[in-house]
Amino acid sequence: MTARKKAFSGIQPTGKVHLGNLLGAIQNWVALQDAYDCTFCIVDWHAMTVDYDANELRSKVRDCAIALLASGVDPSRCTLFVQSEVPEHTELAWYLMTCAPVSRLELQAQYKDKSAQHADNLNAGLLTYPVLQAADILAHRADVVPVGEDQKQHLELARELARKFNLRFGQVFPEPETLLTPAKRIVGTDGKAKMSKSKDNTLDILATPDELWQRLRSAVTDEQRLRRADPGRPEVCNVFAWHQMLTDAPQVASVESGCRTAQIGCMDCKKILHQSLLRLLDPIRERAQALYAEPEKVDAILREGAAKARRSAKATLALAREKCGFGPAA
Ligand code: AMP
Ligand code: TRP
Repeated sequence: MTARKKAFSGIQPTGKVHLGNLLGAIQNWVALQDAYDCTFCIVDWHAMTVDYDANELRSKVRDCAIALLASGVDPSRCTLFVQSEVPEHTELAWYLMTCAPVSRLELQAQYKDKSAQHADNLNAGLLTYPVLQAADILAHRADVVPVGEDQKQHLELARELARKFNLRFGQVFPEPETLLTPAKRIVGTDGKAKMSKSKDNTLDILATPDELWQRLRSAVTDEQRLRRADPGRPEVCNVFAWHQMLTDAPQVASVESGCRTAQIGCMDCKKILHQSLLRLLDPIRERAQALYAEPEKVDAILREGAAKARRSAKATLALAREKCGFGPAA
């Protein structure tokens, strides 16, 4: 039997898991679990690059694990672990740091965004964030990385760092490929920016039906449709974009024509979307509630995941260390 290819991905425990995470990445993680040898990581070290409350981090990590497990990440078919439990990632990050041109790091869009947002805390971790991300992936010698579109540039850098390391020290790493979903960039409730934990524009996957409705009610639609009687333009409306991902095709067609002809208003359209959202999220919320009642089970899953991830990263690091000239010669 040939070995399955490896998939690796990560998520930050910085806020609540939202629809962008689910449709842009997590659904792909779940789908890959049979065909690939999958490893998924809650990246708490990455979360340190902005100000955070150390007393809250553990519970945020657990919330994130519960959201992932409830969404279908299945510990019997993948490895789920917390980054800070596997110190090999930071060791490899150091080796890769010496392969990463500072000028390349300064060009990363996420760095430019975050350094503008956190001008009062411009730490070196923000700049070297994608090097640690490359180390996460390469420590497990992953072949594919399922992520949303915002991570494409970081993954190009990870490929470049793999190539540079291999050229400089000898072949250790495959160049990981990026895997996007059709929903690679979900826009937030503001109708403009990417849905993001750091912005108040998310639909959280574990929110109650009422909380979801409150968010949807105020979500921005076609800004030129001022009155109920005005015909709408679904092609510019973010709520319609969500329908295309969440509602079945015949109903999408009827929402589209109803909007164009002003037979339905934005609230009618949002009520239908609310139903579609609940169809997707009700079972996830119910599974999460069950997991919240058994926190020790979640902790055990993460503990076992960390042990597996440590074995995988240790094997890679033994090779990398030897190639870099550290430790006794093989
Ligand atoms: P983060 O919440 O930034 O840790 O992201 C975790 C995963 O979700 C990454 O693969 C991101 O690319 C993906 N993701 C985050 N926000 C969105 C979004 N608005 N649309 C699509 N994918 C997203
Ligand atoms: N930077 C990613 C994000 O913000 C999270 C991440 C860290 C990641 N390490 C990773 C994603 C490794 C994929 C692979 O979403």
